[in-house]
Amino acid sequence: MRIFIEQSEQAVAQRAAGLIFENLANTDGPFGVATGSTPTPIYEQLSQLELSPSMKLFALDEYFQIDPNHPSSFRQTLIRELVRPCGFSEDNLHLPPASADESEIEKFEVLLNELGPVKIQLLGIGSNGHVAFNEPGSELESTTRKVKLHQTTIVDNQRHFQGEMPRFAVTQGIATIMRSEALLLVARGKHKAKALASMFGVGDLTPASHLAKHPNLIIVADSDAAALIESKSKS
Ligand code: GLP
Repeated sequence: MRIFIEQSEQAVAQRAAGLIFENLANTDGPFGVATGSTPTPIYEQLSQLELSPSMKLFALDEYFQIDPNHPSSFRQTLIRELVRPCGFSEDNLHLPPASADESEIEKFEVLLNELGPVKIQLLGIGSNGHVAFNEPGSELESTTRKVKLHQTTIVDNQRHFQGEMPRFAVTQGIATIMRSEALLLVARGKHKAKALASMFGVGDLTPASHLAKHPNLIIVADSDAAALIESKSKS
């Protein structure tokens, strides 16, 4: 595991973008992409770097039954924040199916296996330790599936959502995410400190705790998010 602790939002974004670039330069990916407020400045930095216009993109999750044209769908968010600014193609952006239809989910997992493994998976972390939409209680063996969102997640995400927050989502499972060659987890802010510490065996186990088993896990955090793990990161 490698840990980088940075002092500002910009330094976090620059560090994360640099690490992504190292893993994706001169390749077509796949790049595992995430949504939320954490990736936004990272995508801004990435758009300044020269990545292949044929980059293949796999998203972690999507809201259940959301209209793909809804401005708060993860599809539209990724098109706006990543695909267009970086000069990628919408045709290369793959998301778990909003329908949650079993055969569509199967097709998504098969495509991910065929085009994968993902070279680097960008991940945020929920304040309750969720990763993608794997809520507390999600198992290490979980694969892509429909999930019910926790109340904390609904409240946390409402501020980004135009209209009423969906109650369900379709998410890659922990096992799906663990197949990536590298995981890059980024956390900013005091409200993420407990969740981040759960990856180091501090406090309750969370879905993020499972990621500590990955052989190539990189964490980039600001000092507020890293407040409960500073001693670990110096060891
Ligand atoms: C959503 C996403 C997660 C993300 C989390 C944190 O729930 N499904 O992938 O990590 O939000 O969001 P933020 O970065 O805005 O704190």
